[in-house]
Amino acid sequence: MLFALDPERAHNLTLAALRRPFVVRALTAPSPRDPRLRQRLFGRDFQHPVGLAAGLDKHGTVPAAWAALGFAFVEIGTVTPRPQPGNPPPRLFRLPADRAIVNRFGFNSIGSSAVARNLAAAGNVGIPLGINLGRNRDTPNEAAAADYLAALDELRSFADYIVVNVSSPNTAGLRALQEARALRALVEQVVRHAGQNAAGPLPVLVKVSPDMPAAELLASVDAAIEGGASGLVATNTTVAREGLASPPALTGQAGGLSGAPLKTRATETCTILYAHVGRRVPIVGVGGIFTAADACQRIRAGASLVQLYTALVYEGPGVVPRIVRGVSECLARDGFSSVSEAIGADVK
Ligand SMILES: Cc1cc2nc3c(=O)[nH]c(=O)nc-3n(C[C@H](O)[C@H](O)[C@H](O)COP(=O)(O)O)c2cc1C
Repeated sequence: MLFALDPERAHNLTLAALRRPFVVRALTAPSPRDPRLRQRLFGRDFQHPVGLAAGLDKHGTVPAAWAALGFAFVEIGTVTPRPQPGNPPPRLFRLPADRAIVNRFGFNSIGSSAVARNLAAAGNVGIPLGINLGRNRDTPNEAAAADYLAALDELRSFADYIVVNVSSPNTAGLRALQEARALRALVEQVVRHAGQNAAGPLPVLVKVSPDMPAAELLASVDAAIEGGASGLVATNTTVAREGLASPPALTGQAGGLSGAPLKTRATETCTILYAHVGRRVPIVGVGGIFTAADACQRIRAGASLVQLYTALVYEGPGVVPRIVRGVSECLARDGFSSVSEAIGADVK
């Protein structure tokens, strides 16, 4: 039914429905509990490795619903400090023939103080909450740090981790902040400013693009870690359009591509990152994960945690417990006694 509607309308209706307790109860599908799936990473406990990626609950409207759907953690955002409308619609496109989405939302955000009000109203969500931050469209890169710090001030107390988003393709110039020197300076400031909240030191992760050449990517990641980053989120959407089956009217839309066609590139990025950073900082693997086999492959490619967005659109909420159960099974089959043991198993 949702696929019969305009994609952004379907998105808004879904979020509105998730505000209703009876809808959440009807969809509630607790993920199986398996002690082998548990991890403690950057000072937070994760019941299993599957989380909701940024962009679905940009404004922190229904954070508790994601826990009820079986996610072990959720990333709110991207949030900008000041409210902004984002790009004009249409800005969200389904590519069913490719099990993919193109979006060019461009950080539509109600602004960090309104998101803080939503999160305060939601209370304790029961799972770790990441908050993904970006700069406003009209803020030049030279002044970007002030945007991240302003949003951080409003949202620090609700976060279990912060993500510095410098990899969205939909805010002109943003990806230039991934350049090593710029990134180090930005991350250093955010880490210093993040400080502590009630749960302890607040970890800062950096979300990277799948479109960077390996050498540049590694230089950036080194800079981020020198700047104090506690983890990496890999990857954001891609501007590449190779090998798609959908018609040009869809594949030709400007924006970031997510879903099945991103899987290979996102997995390769994970492998490249893990081969370089090892276990110095955890990697959150995201991009094209639809099945337990995809999740296990990403963990073996170096991810400590995984996230998904597009699979939820195509498969519905049942995909979450299905993946969690399947991860337990593939760990057992491959002879691993825990997720932690499987991380990076395929990386030389
Ligand atoms: C409609 C849409 C909006 C998104 N918005 C954001 C965002 O605001 N910030 C962000 O860091 N990533 C955003 N993403 C990227 C996802 O978090 C994720 O990195 C990407 O979609 C790859 O995962 P997937 O293939 O499981 O969807 C968005 C993705 C989609 C499909």
